[in-house]
Amino acid sequence: DDLPISLHSAAQVRDLDARLIASGTPGFELMQRAAHATWRALRRRWPEAGSLSVLAGGGNNAGDGYLVAALARRAGWQVKVLAVGAADALTGDAALARDDAAAVGVTIQPWSECAVLEGVVVDALLGTGLSGEVREPYAQAIRLLNASSLPVLAVDIPSGLCADTGRVLGVAVRADLTVTFIGLKLGLFTADAPNQVGELVFDDLQADPALVSVTPRIAERMAAGSLRRLAPRPRTAHKGQLGHLLVVGGDRGLGGAALLAAESALRSGAGLVSLATRPEHVMAALARRPEVMCAGVSSANQLLALADRADVLVAGPGLGQDAWGRGLLSVVAGLESVQVWDADALNMLAGGLVRLPAGCVITPHPGEAARLLGISTAEVQADRPRAVLALAQKFDAVVLLKGAGSLVAAPDGRLALCDRGHPVMAGAGLGDVLAGLIGALLAQGMDAYSATCLAVWLHACAGEGLARGGRGLAASDLIPTIRQLLEEFAP
Ligand code: APR
Repeated sequence: DDLPISLHSAAQVRDLDARLIASGTPGFELMQRAAHATWRALRRRWPEAGSLSVLAGGGNNAGDGYLVAALARRAGWQVKVLAVGAADALTGDAALARDDAAAVGVTIQPWSECAVLEGVVVDALLGTGLSGEVREPYAQAIRLLNASSLPVLAVDIPSGLCADTGRVLGVAVRADLTVTFIGLKLGLFTADAPNQVGELVFDDLQADPALVSVTPRIAERMAAGSLRRLAPRPRTAHKGQLGHLLVVGGDRGLGGAALLAAESALRSGAGLVSLATRPEHVMAALARRPEVMCAGVSSANQLLALADRADVLVAGPGLGQDAWGRGLLSVVAGLESVQVWDADALNMLAGGLVRLPAGCVITPHPGEAARLLGISTAEVQADRPRAVLALAQKFDAVVLLKGAGSLVAAPDGRLALCDRGHPVMAGAGLGDVLAGLIGALLAQGMDAYSATCLAVWLHACAGEGLARGGRGLAASDLIPTIRQLLEEFAP
């Protein structure tokens, strides 16, 4: 993948834009480069279309759109602009762009609900300047566009999508292709974004890399080039050096979750894997995975002896929230080992029944994150970056906020985004496999933040690779693929 690693807020991209202009590239020149990049991507995707409708707003995003209209007209395409923001109210570079389009014979007509859209539609309504819920008549134009079956190219970001949070602000364009400029906005990747953005093309507008590198970023995109790798194993390695991982979970009716986590850890390179579960699950677990040291525990005391020998604990898969699970978790919470808390462990943490030791990893989905923060799930999803950073602070932990566009945050403010994965991964047991994988990387000596990022990314890539028609993936199917990726990625 050739997208940049740095992810920015809308304000940071505006700042970068201003730096480029201050260092000698006029704003109109940048606008022209943006239009050329858009036109190139448009022709590549729809070479034969021959006809274009541009929906233009009232700011610089519209300016980009007018210049694309001019380029298409010069190439002999049939082109019209539907001006949703009053075309005669444009100022600065956007006004110059409008004049350019008019000069080459582009038809510019005011938007009305009877307007006819044809050909490829270029969405140049609202870019990074969007603030608050989309107002009329923009909202109406977006609804009509989405109801058409025409191909849509969004300039910079689909109109209505918040560049910082990836939230649809009321209504947003569903694009087939988005061409984005200068810096990647975090909002192109998380929350609602995967439904809106379509294929993503990035163009740096020939920005000086030195200027780009000094511009602050809010997050890193996980990619093969940005993730830490496991150190190669010495030829003299023995199992005792590769970490002993203990999974704690599997109450009645939930035994599979803990076994999935244990099997995943085993296949991801943990030296020794133990499982502390309900005694009635031991026989089945041994039958499936004789390599896992499986112990039936009825009480918290029995767990204490086992847990002392483990370097890393994964607590929560199938743990339940009854007396049994509560008792085990209170033992776990008193230990000094590196720990991953998932699922029911997080629900008990949110309930204030236990305290999380420092330096752990927690892996909430949005609902669990909401309980941990004492807010609603909708509030978490409204600003996922903020929610995950707040959790990392609150619990002094590395936090993975799951869901499309997964985010990992550290207490020191580091933030990473995973743009891989597939909706087929919305299924039972996928989280248990991930928790086991994070634990295995911790057991092999990675720090909590790097281990969580690498695990999330490998897990997502494995899911993508197995997606097929997009249904029916079993969590355990993922394990051999993760192993394969791990070998390629971290020999
Ligand atoms: N509803 C309707 N109109 C809105 C809303 C809203 N919620 N929020 C902002 N606007 C209007 C503003 O009044 C303004 O006219 O949108 C216009 C600004 O939008 P943009 O074009 O996104 O902002 P601007 O900063 O001018 O341009 C940024 O320019 O560099 C290009 O495409 C690139 O996205 C980038 C854009």
